[in-house]
Amino acid sequence: MEPAATLDRLVADAPHRIAAAASLDQLHRLETELLGRSSVIAEVKRSLGGIDPERRRALGRLINQANTLIGPAILARRAELERIETAAALAGDAVDVTLPGRSGEQGTLHVIRQVMDEIVDIFVALGYTVATGPEAETDWYNFTALNFKPDHPARAETDTMYLDYGEAAEGVLLRTHTSPMQARYMEQHPPPIQVVVPGRVFRRDPLDPTHSPVFHQVEGLAVDTDITFADLKGTLAHFAREFLGPDITIKFLPHYFPFTEPSAEMHVLYRGSWLELLGCGMVHPAVFEHVGYDPEQVTGLAFGLGADRMAMVRHGVTDIRHLFDPDRRVLSQFR
Ligand code: PHE
Repeated sequence: MEPAATLDRLVADAPHRIAAAASLDQLHRLETELLGRSSVIAEVKRSLGGIDPERRRALGRLINQANTLIGPAILARRAELERIETAAALAGDAVDVTLPGRSGEQGTLHVIRQVMDEIVDIFVALGYTVATGPEAETDWYNFTALNFKPDHPARAETDTMYLDYGEAAEGVLLRTHTSPMQARYMEQHPPPIQVVVPGRVFRRDPLDPTHSPVFHQVEGLAVDTDITFADLKGTLAHFAREFLGPDITIKFLPHYFPFTEPSAEMHVLYRGSWLELLGCGMVHPAVFEHVGYDPEQVTGLAFGLGADRMAMVRHGVTDIRHLFDPDRRVLSQFR
């Protein structure tokens, strides 16, 4: 085809091809095709040198025409496409502030925590303060200070979980009860004292319906110049009525603990049978001596409540394993 005819065709086609470019990318490719180094216009330009002046002028005009048409048309379409693409990007990022929010699920305190808080509250109302102690405990506080003899069976590896502290001279273990805090607290505070200690304790028990290797206690200790066994019974009877209702039936049975004398267990009549809820007694003089109290000057009462048992009694749970089940269908029943 004649170069002039080719250029005419180009000029005729260019406007709608430019208008039809659907993206900046497509437009860029079209620009290269129409105006780039291997475009028709460039080719015709390169051929101008070898032709006679008259035709050269005519073709030159056509080339100018083509350039003045195509260049601005591409600029205009580019501006338009940029507007469209920016608008689309903004629309994609849009946030509808009028949409209702998605609320997170509301959690609750675990049932054992709820029960421990409730137990502690009852004693706080009687004037007790609250303390907590370490779960990894030394042999001294867990046993020796509490008057356990060296060969006491509770010290056996079959009963207690010892921790490997390498060269540590003294045994370190997961406390088997909250009673070590009796000794720690008395070391730190002069009498009179009234304190409760909620906490987690550990024993080498297999998991079954009534045992768990991890369970919870609330320790209680009151020391003054004239505390009697009647105070102990009265305090715990008051607690039982507050926690389980005014009609609850309780009894105290003689028992043995190395760190109390006399010692007892408190049982409650629950669903027709007796259930042990706590161990208790009058603080043994040997414990007072270990912590630097004068056993001639003070007497004390102490008790250790099984918080998991309390939770089971309170909520009618028959298997302790339910209390440690992470299934939310179980947990959500205790709101
Ligand atoms: N520490 C005892 C236990 O775990 C309970 C207890 C506490 C008994 C305080 C007497 C006094 O069985």
